[in-house]
Amino acid sequence: MSTVPLLSVRDLCVDYATGTKLVRAADRVSFDLAQGEVMGLAGESGSGKSTVAFAIARLHKPPAFVTGGSVTLDGTDVLALKGEELRQWRWRDLSVVLQSAMNALNPLLTVEAQFRDLFHAHGVRDKAEVRERSAELLRLVGIAPDRLGDWPHTFSGGMRQRLVIAMALALRPKLIVMDEPTTALDVVVQREILEQVAELRAKFGFAVLFITHDLALMSQFCDRVGIMLKGELVEQGTPAELLARPRHPYTKRLWDSLPRLHPDTPARTGTAP
Ligand SMILES: Nc1ncnc2c1ncn2[C@@H]1O[C@H](COP(=O)(O)OP(=O)(O)O)[C@@H](O)[C@H]1O
Ligand SMILES: [Mg+2]
Repeated sequence: MSTVPLLSVRDLCVDYATGTKLVRAADRVSFDLAQGEVMGLAGESGSGKSTVAFAIARLHKPPAFVTGGSVTLDGTDVLALKGEELRQWRWRDLSVVLQSAMNALNPLLTVEAQFRDLFHAHGVRDKAEVRERSAELLRLVGIAPDRLGDWPHTFSGGMRQRLVIAMALALRPKLIVMDEPTTALDVVVQREILEQVAELRAKFGFAVLFITHDLALMSQFCDRVGIMLKGELVEQGTPAELLARPRHPYTKRLWDSLPRLHPDTPARTGTAP
């Protein structure tokens, strides 16, 4: 693994302009993500996870403003990108999977048309190539390629989320930001999809910033976890490190509240090494 991180976030500050004052939602957040690494961001609702993810993906809009810090992805100054440069960067270098697949899919276009638009926007115009790559993307996420001509509403919620993941993979980005990607789905589908993401990651080597409030999922799918509390990234480490030696009282409380939903979920014991 190279020593230069793929993603480097330094002292990132994001404020929301509400009325006459600014409310700080991300406060000097700093972390690195290595190539191919899966990092989780956990923390209670409102702790600033989405705020950080949106700023990194350049999806934040007023009233959210980045008021400090830097974001560097594979040498690119992300916060300086604009116009066409930004449009090309998105999907090609970084893609995003959000909670609601329906927001990412256009209900008026077939899957094929959406894939085609995405490829066209990034300079892939050869008809046969677009068709072949679109079919391959569906295969990768376990959907039969003969469904390319279908409309989004004919797919189940889990399959729609797989379609979004397929789109996120289309241009082989280096980083995929997933903000609660499976929260709206039932537990079994959730697990299937995340296992598929893990397989695809092993195959293609992209890194993932994975946001969830589900610590059990997080501890299984992430190489490293960061804990957000009131806009600050209060600690980071491997799931095992944080579980064995939570430095912050909040992290300890968070782990202690972890429901033992799955037998693989590591238990907190009083006798940490
Ligand atoms: N549109 C908004 N306007 C004003 N404040 C907002 C807005 N969205 C989020 N915030 C503030 O940012 C904080 C963090 O929100 P968010 O990043 O969505 O948290 P999380 O994803 O961890 O649940 C919230 O507690 C809220 O104070
Ligand atoms: Mg959120």
